[in-house]
This record gives sequence, structure tokens and C-alpha cells, in this order.
Amino acid sequence: MYDWLNALPKAELHLHLEGSLEPELLFALAERNKIALPWNDVEALRSAYAFNNLQEFLDLYYAGADVLRTEQDFYDLTWAYLLKCKAQNVIHTEPFFDPQTHTDRGIPFEVVLRGIKQALVDGEKQLGISHGLILSFLRHLSEEEAFKTFEQAMPFRDAFIAVGLDSSEMGHPPRKFQRVFDKARSEGLLTVAHAGEEGPPEYIWEALDLLKIKRIDHGVRAIEDERLMQRIIDEQIPLTVCPLSNTKLCVFDDMRQHNILQMLERGVKVTVNSDDPAYFGGYVTENFAALHESLGMTKEQATRLAQNSLDARLV
Ligand code: ADE
Ligand code: ZN
Repeated sequence: MYDWLNALPKAELHLHLEGSLEPELLFALAERNKIALPWNDVEALRSAYAFNNLQEFLDLYYAGADVLRTEQDFYDLTWAYLLKCKAQNVIHTEPFFDPQTHTDRGIPFEVVLRGIKQALVDGEKQLGISHGLILSFLRHLSEEEAFKTFEQAMPFRDAFIAVGLDSSEMGHPPRKFQRVFDKARSEGLLTVAHAGEEGPPEYIWEALDLLKIKRIDHGVRAIEDERLMQRIIDEQIPLTVCPLSNTKLCVFDDMRQHNILQMLERGVKVTVNSDDPAYFGGYVTENFAALHESLGMTKEQATRLAQNSLDARLV
């Protein structure tokens, strides 16, 4: 089944480039940039990948990103991800990057963007993988800081298809970013947002009504609100679901409790994605495989999930 799932043509619509930083590359970049790490070796770092919630993961994810310093580092990170895409027949990807994680450490915006974008362009040419890049704002930071990031991005407007919203969800509702999302839409950018990962269904309503999002990232808590479920079914609003992420971050205690197939059978446009594959134990194919192993996902269901991912592309 793994090989069959791997061969399915698919799109990945929820992937944080910083979350694809494998421990081996993290150590190599630390050495290249002469950065001392708090872990002795790759195994010690990997054994720290045990999380009780989103925040525990984010703390380590932001610490790991500190090894990314130069344009070449961002290129190498993105290229390594694209090689995974190629190996798993991901024919189109719409990755996120978090500029504030880097600009707050003194790395210029254009250094981050140039490295990522060059790898994506080379990936189109050399690997045949099409892409649309999404600039994601960190929601634990202020509206003012998001506006500042947006202004830094505007000279490179054509490098993006959309803006997104990620990081610590609880206590940072979508409405906090309504004005910056308004501004992004006025520049012709599309919008997406993480909502209903740990946060309540109200955050999904806000993301739809105030941020006018085209896709809901995660959204698994929509199932708690029947009126919301009806809306996302009627309007066929895609959900970018990340099964391994949800179990690693204890959104569900066990994969057997995951609601993705229940949503699929109710007519929700759900898709399968890897979120932060270096931290959660696998890329897209491993996420599909986990659904087969724990929930008995059939080939017919996998085919519909993969087709949904192709249909839910923004570009
Ligand atoms: N940043 C990286 N992965 C994330 C996730 N799953 N939720 C929120 N912010 C993130
Ligand atoms: Zn995410």
C-alpha cells in the first residue's frame, strides 16, 4: 500500500518550510555557520521531538530555525524538501514560510526570500514541481509587526500567491489580523489561515468572515459546530489536514480517533498534508499511510483525498 500511496499524484497545501528542516541538515548548517547547539548529536535532537501541545513544538521549531542564516541555507532547506516531493510524487506544492522568525534575528527579508524562491524556481525547471509560495504571519506577534513584515514583502509582491497565519493559536484570534489581511487582499493576494487546530470553531468563523480565507489550515475542530460543517460542505471550502501533526501535538490522542475520513464521507473537501515533516515523523506519503494503517483508509478514499488536494490549489 505504501508504494501505491507514494505513486498517487498529489499536491501539498500545508507545509512550513522551516518545519522540513531535518536534524541532519540542522547539524550541517550549524557547523557551516559555526553555531554551537544545545544537543550533542542528531539522535539527541530527535529524542527531544516529543510534544504535549502546539506551544511545546513551536518552542523547539523556532530554536531549530536559528541555524538558517544565509541565502544558501534557505536554498538548501527548500531544495531538500523539493527532493522529498519528487520522491513522493507531489507534483505541486504551496509552502509557507515565516519571515518574522528570521527578520527578528537580524536576517534580512530578501536573504530568506531569495534562497527559498530560487530553489522553488529551480524545482519547477529541474524537477517539474509547480509551486505557489505563501507568506505566513506569526499570530503571537502584534498587528503592527505583521504590517511591518507586509511592507518588507511588497517589493517582492510577485513572489507570493497568498498570506497565511500561523504560530500559537489560543489567545490570538483571526480578528487580530483583519486589517493586515484586508491590505493583502487589496494587493491582489489570496488569504489562508490556521484555524481550529487547537482553537475553537469561532476562530474558523472569524477566519472565513473577517480574513476571507480560501482554505482552512487544519480546521479539524469544525466538527464541533454543525452549522459550520454545513457551511464548509455547501461552499466546498478546503481543509488542509495534517494527521501526523495532529497526533504528535495531541490534538487527537490517537490516530484511530482522527476525524478526517468522517469529514471526507460527509462531503468536506479535506486534503492530506505534512505540516512540519521533520518534526512529526513523515512527509505526505507517511501521512496517507498512517490513515490506512489506523483508520483503514481505502484506495478509493485515498484517491479522493489526493484529487481534493489537486482541486484545492490556489494556483
Ligand atoms: N507553525 C508551524 N507549524 C504550525 C502548526 N501546526 N500550527 C501553528 N503554527 C505552526
Ligand atoms: Zn501548520
